[in-house]
Amino acid sequence: MDTILVTGALGQIGSELTPALRDRYDDVRIVASDIESGPDVSQPYETVDVTDRSQVEAVVEKYDVDTVFHLAALLSAAGEQNPDKAFEVNIQGLYNVLEVGREYGLNRIVVPSSIAVYGPATRNNPSERAIRSPTTMYGISKVLAENLATYYYQTYDLDVRGIRLPGIVSHKTRPDGGTTDYAVDAFYEAIDTGEYTYFVRKDTRLPMVYMADAIDAIITLSEADKSDLRFQCEYNISGLSFTASELSERIEERIGRFNARYEPDGRQSIADSWPSTLDDSAARSDWGWSPEYDLDRLVDEMVRNLQRKVK
Ligand SMILES: NC(=O)c1ccc[n+]([C@@H]2O[C@H](COP(=O)([O-])OP(=O)(O)OC[C@H]3O[C@@H](n4cnc5c(N)ncnc54)[C@H](O)[C@@H]3O)[C@@H](O)[C@H]2O)c1
Repeated sequence: MDTILVTGALGQIGSELTPALRDRYDDVRIVASDIESGPDVSQPYETVDVTDRSQVEAVVEKYDVDTVFHLAALLSAAGEQNPDKAFEVNIQGLYNVLEVGREYGLNRIVVPSSIAVYGPATRNNPSERAIRSPTTMYGISKVLAENLATYYYQTYDLDVRGIRLPGIVSHKTRPDGGTTDYAVDAFYEAIDTGEYTYFVRKDTRLPMVYMADAIDAIITLSEADKSDLRFQCEYNISGLSFTASELSERIEERIGRFNARYEPDGRQSIADSWPSTLDDSAARSDWGWSPEYDLDRLVDEMVRNLQRKVK
């Protein structure tokens, strides 16, 4: 591995994965890219719209890229507001990356999937082979992405791999456009104003993971021996699972008074369609997935970091 391209590098995950890759691999060039220009991102950085195959091709050729971490996407809530664009970015964008991967003989493409592949027909704690019948455009695009990845693996021997990520809790880049954003927004608002109105019910329980564990999972999976992997982009990982009110209680324990209100909007039905826990035993046995953050540690880290940033 000589050169890694990260697409969607300015987003919630990319803004932490890119420096983590740079820290981990001294002798590998990490090229960050996004559709936006990136003033604060360390070099090299390129503006790349993944829906335009010629732009993907140009950056791969310019830097002699051999590995791609493909993060460019529209998330669940944003995708429901703009299904057309979600289809274009999540499907055409991935197709472009896979096609360039095939054409240029890339060594590896890492593509996150999501718990959004599951739908109301799936029971709790699903394993990788559970029914995938999502009801959102985002979930549909992720099922198609998983199937496309498997097709390219089987047909062209392209090494595509990924994880079905749950909601990610982090303090560096504030998420936007996702259904699990409340699990980050609550911290910002609690610390800034002492109050927050959740857009889900207080009993909404979803699987989540702290960013440090998510980054570790993405990198560990990317380094795993291909012969150990039973799945391509379908590995479940689950760090923890908590309700909105459990989160509020833990935040209040740390910061004192926290006035949490719950006014569900359209995102509630998306949350209700997802499982609240995941069976991640395959990731644990195949490539050693083992999260370090429980809810108390996650809340401690978020409060400590955001008290410095927000106040
Ligand atoms: N954050 C989560 O909780 C979560 C959960 C499950 C799965 N995922 C998956 O992880 C990946 C990264 O998610 P994220 O949370 O960092 O998302 P994000 O929305 O924070 O970042 C996505 C980035 O993609 C960029 N982008 C959008 N359209 C583009 C285009 N046409 N060309 C190039 N870049 C474009 C955006 O500018 C943004 O910086 C996605 O595939 C997402 O589905 C994220």
